[in-house]
Parts: sequence; C-alpha cells; structure tokens
Amino acid sequence: MSSYYRDRVAWVFGGSQGIGLALGEELIKRGCRVRLFARRADLLSQEAARIKAEWTALDVADYASVEQAVQEAQGVDGSPFFVFNCAGLALPGYLLDLSPEDIDRMNQVNYLGTAYVCKAVLPALVAQKAGHIVNVSSLGGVMGLFGYTAYCATKYAVMGFSEALRREVAGYGIRVSALCPPNTRTPGLEQENLRKPPEVLAQEEKVQVLESSQVARYLLKALPGNPFTVIPSFDGRLAHLLSRWAPGILNLFLKRPQAK
Ligand SMILES: NC(=O)c1ccc[n+]([C@@H]2O[C@H](COP(=O)([O-])OP(=O)(O)OC[C@H]3O[C@@H](n4cnc5c(N)ncnc54)[C@H](OP(=O)(O)O)[C@@H]3O)[C@@H](O)[C@H]2O)c1
Repeated sequence: MSSYYRDRVAWVFGGSQGIGLALGEELIKRGCRVRLFARRADLLSQEAARIKAEWTALDVADYASVEQAVQEAQGVDGSPFFVFNCAGLALPGYLLDLSPEDIDRMNQVNYLGTAYVCKAVLPALVAQKAGHIVNVSSLGGVMGLFGYTAYCATKYAVMGFSEALRREVAGYGIRVSALCPPNTRTPGLEQENLRKPPEVLAQEEKVQVLESSQVARYLLKALPGNPFTVIPSFDGRLAHLLSRWAPGILNLFLKRPQAK
C-alpha cells in the first residue's frame, strides 16, 4: 500500500454518494483521515458513520458556505493534504431543449463549485507547502459530446482551470490533477439517464460503464506519480488519443445521427 496516503488528511467534496463516496472509502483503506462534504446532512452523516469518516455540510455553489465549512473543518482536522472536488451534475439535452436555468446550474456547481473550493483551501496548502488537489472533470471535458453541449463546457472549464492552477502552484509544492471518468454507475448517472435524448442513450450502450470503486482505485493508484489527466477506462484513453491526433476518426463514432 502506498505511503502517499498513510496518516494524511483527505477532504472529499461531493462525498456522500457516487464517485466521491467511493474515493472516501478507498482513502480510508489506505490510511487517510477522511472528511466528506455535501449538502444533505442526513445522507452525509449516515455514510460518514458507515465508513468512519468525519463530515461537514456545505453548498459548493455558494462561496460563503464553502469558506465557513473550510474554516470549521480546519479547526478540527488542521490543513488537508488531499482535496477532491467531486461535487457535480450532468443535465444532458440538446441545446435547443435546455433551459437557461439548466445551463446556469451546471456552471454553478461544476465549474464555480470547483473554483470556490480550490480558492478556499489554497491558503492552507500554500502555508504548509504541500498538498494534492484533484478536480473531477469528465471524458466530456476532453472531447465534445453531442447531447452534452452545456455540460461539456463546464468540464472543459474544470480542465483549463486545473491546468493553469497546476502551473501556478507547483512552486509551492502543491500538485493538481484532473480526473476524467467515463460513464460510472452512481446515483448521479441514474438521474442523468432519465433525461438523456434516446440517441445519446443508444450511443452510450456501446461503451463500458465503470463502477465508482473502480474509478476510485484507478485514480488512487495513479496519483503518487502526479499525472495531470487521469482517464480510468481503456475506451476513454483511446478516445482521448483520437480526439487529439485523429479527430476525423473520432467524428465517425461521436456524430449525432441525422436529426428528424
Ligand atoms: N457518474 C458518471 O458517469 C460521471 C462521468 C463523468 C464525470 N462525472 C463527474 O463525477 C462527479 C461525481 O459524479 P457522481 O456520478 O458520483 O455524482 P452523484 O452520484 O450525483 O454524487 C454527487 C455528490 O456531490 C454532492 N453535491 C452535488 N451538488 C452539490 C453542491 N452544490 N454542494 C455540495 N455537494 C454537492 C452530492 O450530495 P448532495 O446532493 O447532498 O449535495 C453527492 O455527494 C461529478 O462532477 C460528475 O460530473 C460523473
């Protein structure tokens, strides 16, 4: 087991279910002291008790709430070494059908929530001259997927923000990585599937769906090597390579079927 995790404090934002909760569980197995953050205190307290973590309720889309939660948690834990930004949501749909509120909501949680948490924790990481921030983007943060126009933009924003931050804080001894999961079986994916256009569902049936524990284990194995982009599936890594070096080939697979 890697000593990269032993006895370190890990904060998992968006940690009460899905990928965040799986990460919390895997971090505890590796010897971290874990605190989970999310909005619903009932679920959060139940899952934290089950996995033997601490918890703090907050809304990442509200900077005042983030600042207060970070201060409270620091009062108990001291500064974290790991910060995982997993809070996020996908509201798929063609741009013609999305509401402006859908677009705003995804920006608020996926991009602003990530930026707010990073801003609030950074002074403590700079002071201790160490830390590892992991922002959860998506495969939709490295390639444009039809049916996810507004979502992809928020996840590309997470990639750009994370890449710039990585260069900005490396000199303080702080690492920044970005996780780009493919479809992963979580409560969030279940919700998302309820509103996907049928062509998107048909397309996704062809690719593998990962378990959240697989994503968490892949990420934690990769992090000691300080990678920037972490893509936990073979299909995803192949698609990412094609999108960079042979986008014409990827277009054949990712094109929306003729609109009726
Ligand atoms: N699952 C996938 O297929 C997939 C694929 C690619 C990328 N991702 C990304 O991976 C991340 C996790 O996805 P998931 O499927 O595990 O999601 P999920 O099952 O919906 O879990 C989301 C977690 O974030 C918390 N959360 C949501 N909004 C929040 C807010 N405003 N403030 C604080 N906490 C908030 C939720 O708890 P509360 O609701 O109680 O706040 C929950 O703990 C997201 O960024 C998602 O975009 C997921």
